[in-house]
Amino acid sequence: RVHVQSLPADAGRPAGQGVGGEDYQGHQVLKVFVADNGTLDLLRSFEGNPDVDFWTPASGLNPTVDVLVAPDVGRRLKEELTRSGASYTVNIEDVQLLVGRSGHPLTWTAYHSADDHHQYMDFIEQNYKGLCETFSIGTSTEGRDLRGVKCGLGKREVWIDGGIHAREWVSPAVVSCLIREYSQRSVNHQDLLRKHTIYMLPILNPDGYEYTRSGGSAYRRRRFWRKTRSRNPGSSCIGADPNRNFDAHWGETGSSMDPCSDIYAGSRPFSEPETRALRDFLLGRVHAMKMYISFHSYSQMLFVPYAFSKERPADYKELLRVAKAGEKAIRRTSGKAYRVGQASQLLYEAAGGSDDWAKSKAGIKYSFTFELRDKGRQGFLLSASQIEDTCTEIVAAVDTMITTSAEQD
Ligand code: ARG
Ligand code: ZN
Repeated sequence: RVHVQSLPADAGRPAGQGVGGEDYQGHQVLKVFVADNGTLDLLRSFEGNPDVDFWTPASGLNPTVDVLVAPDVGRRLKEELTRSGASYTVNIEDVQLLVGRSGHPLTWTAYHSADDHHQYMDFIEQNYKGLCETFSIGTSTEGRDLRGVKCGLGKREVWIDGGIHAREWVSPAVVSCLIREYSQRSVNHQDLLRKHTIYMLPILNPDGYEYTRSGGSAYRRRRFWRKTRSRNPGSSCIGADPNRNFDAHWGETGSSMDPCSDIYAGSRPFSEPETRALRDFLLGRVHAMKMYISFHSYSQMLFVPYAFSKERPADYKELLRVAKAGEKAIRRTSGKAYRVGQASQLLYEAAGGSDDWAKSKAGIKYSFTFELRDKGRQGFLLSASQIEDTCTEIVAAVDTMITTSAEQD
């Protein structure tokens, strides 16, 4: 295995200088036992480092010294203490957990509003400068920003979206979790982030998403809304199915021309501002964009194009290879079974999808759609307590799929 070079020193470093920054993830407080002057000298050599904060002074008057350290410098200090024969205990394992407030309202133990997601993106932009920044591809029908975060410094680009369908709540949760992974846990992905830039947009259909979160007595009916929230001239029915609205065999099998249908293809290809925004953004980046991944739920499947029919792209085998590597990573991580194949074989034929369009029209070689957990016990109502575990298996899959595909093109 080749040596993994570090990201630039300031990439992804919390802003606001070291331990004074807003984010204490992975920061620890050590209690160091001062054995002799050697220990004191060692500790004092860390004084003035912005990633180190002495809670009690290394004055020699106390038999122990408490010191708050950021992850990297903490590792180094512990090594040097051990090497010099001094001992220490970890008083606080993860400072962030005790600080509580993390500077943003997002968690992965509950489902959150689009606004909470946006605040999290602001937080990431503020705290991971040089590694991640936010971007916007446009606005929804109701004027919501279609926002995402991109992380990485590489030329090879990957697109990830969630929330195309409103009721599939675990999808935005998992994409925001990928944002967390590639920003706050970037140390685990240095090689990948040097070679790639990963665009992650958690909620492509925010109007629909907010609709499923809204309402009192009508909540039961709103919770299972799937489409966008645009008006349809001449009909009292609202919205189109964004995943039938792309210009890839638009209006053919598995879609409807009835505005009241849940699989309404829209009045024309790209009639919806959300799908148009995605189209224009991706077409602007086709020179670098190598992979498209879209997250839906549910049924634990991973689709390879095409979905509009059983037709296969010329490089189907290569896409299948990458998908199977992703599926294997999931099995290794959580033991969950995901079926791999064409949607048209495993599910149904459905034209006008983003995955088919990304492959056949945008020319993005690797195009995939995930159907996340579960297999129907809870379905769209998947318990929020499953977000973290779903996220863990999907991080493994996405990581593997990106690396595995990079071997080939
Ligand atoms: N359940 C998803 C949908 O109906 C499946 C997506 C598979 N891809 C597709 N282009 N139909 O949209
Ligand atoms: Zn869906």
